[in-house]
Order: sequence, then C-alpha cells, then structure tokens
Amino acid sequence: MESCVGCCSSNCAGGHVVASQTLYGGTHALLTHFLPRACNITTSFVDIRDLEMVKEAIVEGRTNVLYFESISNPTLTVANIPELSRIAHEKGVTVVVDNTFAPLVLSPVKLGADVVVHSISKYISGAADIIAGAVCGPASLVNSMMDLHQGSLMLLGPTMNPKVAFELAERLPHLGLRMKEHCKRALEYGTRMTKLGLKVMYPGLEDHPDHVLIKSMANKEYGYGGILCVDMETEERANRLMNVLQNFTQFGFMAVSLGYYETLMSCSGSSTSSELNNEEKELAGISPGLVRMSIGYNGSLEQKWSQLDKALSKMPF
Ligand SMILES: Cc1ncc(COP(=O)(O)O)c(C=O)c1O
Repeated sequence: MESCVGCCSSNCAGGHVVASQTLYGGTHALLTHFLPRACNITTSFVDIRDLEMVKEAIVEGRTNVLYFESISNPTLTVANIPELSRIAHEKGVTVVVDNTFAPLVLSPVKLGADVVVHSISKYISGAADIIAGAVCGPASLVNSMMDLHQGSLMLLGPTMNPKVAFELAERLPHLGLRMKEHCKRALEYGTRMTKLGLKVMYPGLEDHPDHVLIKSMANKEYGYGGILCVDMETEERANRLMNVLQNFTQFGFMAVSLGYYETLMSCSGSSTSSELNNEEKELAGISPGLVRMSIGYNGSLEQKWSQLDKALSKMPF
C-alpha cells in the first residue's frame, strides 16, 4: 500500500476536483496520477467552455475545488471566470485559478475566484533565473497552510528563500511595464502573421473565439497576454520553423519557459504537454504542430519582426 506523503491537511480524507482538461502538463499529471495515489484526491476533467458540463461534473457535497487556468497553456482558451465562479459557488465549491499566463492582464479574484496560483518562474520573475510559486488567497487558507503542526507549506518545504523573495520584490514594480510590452508585441506579431496566412491563436485577435470574453474581463491598460501560438500542423514543421527562428534569424530561443525578455518557443505537444497522452492532447485541442511563442521585448519591435518575417519567408506553407 502506498504511504501518505502528507500533502493535504485533511488526514487524507480525500477530495474531488473538477478541472479543465486543458492544463499545463505538470498540473495535469499531478491531478491525474499523483493526487489520487498519494492523497485520495480524484479529478474529473471537463471542457470549461461548456458551462453545462462543468455544472454536471460538480457534485454538491463531494466536490471541493474547481480548478482552471485563466488563459490555458498552451491552447490560449480563456476561462469565463465570473460564470465559472458563480456555478461553483452555487454548490459551495472553491474556485482556484492558475493565472501564470496573465498576471495583471486578468485579476481572477476581482472576477469572482477564491484562490489564485502563479508560477513565479515565468512573467513575475521575468529573467528565467528563479523557480518559485505563489498561492494567493484568504488569510484563513494561507494561515492554515502555514500551520505549525498541520500546514503543508510549513511542513513540506516550499517556503520561499528570503533572498529570492527580496529579489522578486525588486522586480514587481516593472512587471506592469513588461506585461504591456509583451502583450503589445504579441498582438502586433499575431496580427501580421495572420495576414501572412498563418494559423495563429491569440485571444487579442478579433477572430479568436474568446476575444469578446477576454475583452470583457481584462484590465484595460495591459492587453491580452504575451503568448501566441501558431499551428504548423506537424511536429516536423514546428521544429523546422523553430530551428530557423533560433539558428538562422535569431528571433528567439527554443525553451520551455515563458515570460522572459527574449522570445521563447516550444512545440507544446512534445514538451510542456508531453505528460498528456494522445487522447488527452486531442481533447485539450493541442495539435502536434502547435508552436507556443512567449513573445519577448528585447530589441525594437520592428527589428525583431524583420527576424520573424525572414524566417517565415523561408518556410514553405
Ligand atoms: C500555467 C502553468 N502553471 C504552472 C506551471 C509550473 O511552473 P513552475 O515551473 O514554476 O513549477 C507552468 C509551467 O510551465 C505553467 O505553464
């Protein structure tokens, strides 16, 4: 019998999560494989765009948490945070939102969520040199996680190094400026790439299925996120494009992180979503040729565009 690793504060009484089927691969693996085994916590995965499906999956008295990403990794589906929160709260369920892709762009708590989690390793760090995370929620929750005798943060070791915390505090004042520039360039490049005939996914584009939704929720002065995706249809074509962009025109780097000042590119299906099996990837809408680009702000917009444009002109479409 597997022994308990003590990751929950409920004596392994178990629990039930309803989660989006489109989540970062590590989170998907945690919910699918680790939590059922180690904590008796099970998850039902749903398409969060289908509010009826979400409603049906939440079982009053059994479900504890509704979990989703505000802008999903990597498909850039936008969650209807007010409606999802309303549905969950009607059944007494806590809404936890991973806002890693959209710090400052979206404010999930203002939109109805209860708890917001962030990978700080991404935009908030901004320099790809820190691995950290944050759980933001009501004092009662945070205090319970820090409880001397029972708290998972207190007992399992993820307390942040104070030197790292200080360094991050020094970077927060310019997070807003950085986000604005990431978002501005993602929108500009997405618009231009669409005009060139590429299959671009970016919620800031008017033809994105969630454009009206994100417009209704976004904090006005920031834009619609700094990640854009282009579907190259096959992994081979995705790798060819990234190779030209990195090694011939120096537009960006092949790397699985995001939120850096340089553009970072990855083929999600074979990297940050490789934990999902083929069926799960299909359900999540991840094409094998999906290239995720975290748009950087190093150099001028036009100089970087010329590098992107040059690479695209080398690709047979
Ligand atoms: C949406 C999202 N959440 C969480 C994580 C995990 O972040 P970390 O690498 O800081 O553990 C990632 C990593 O890519 C992510 O994209």
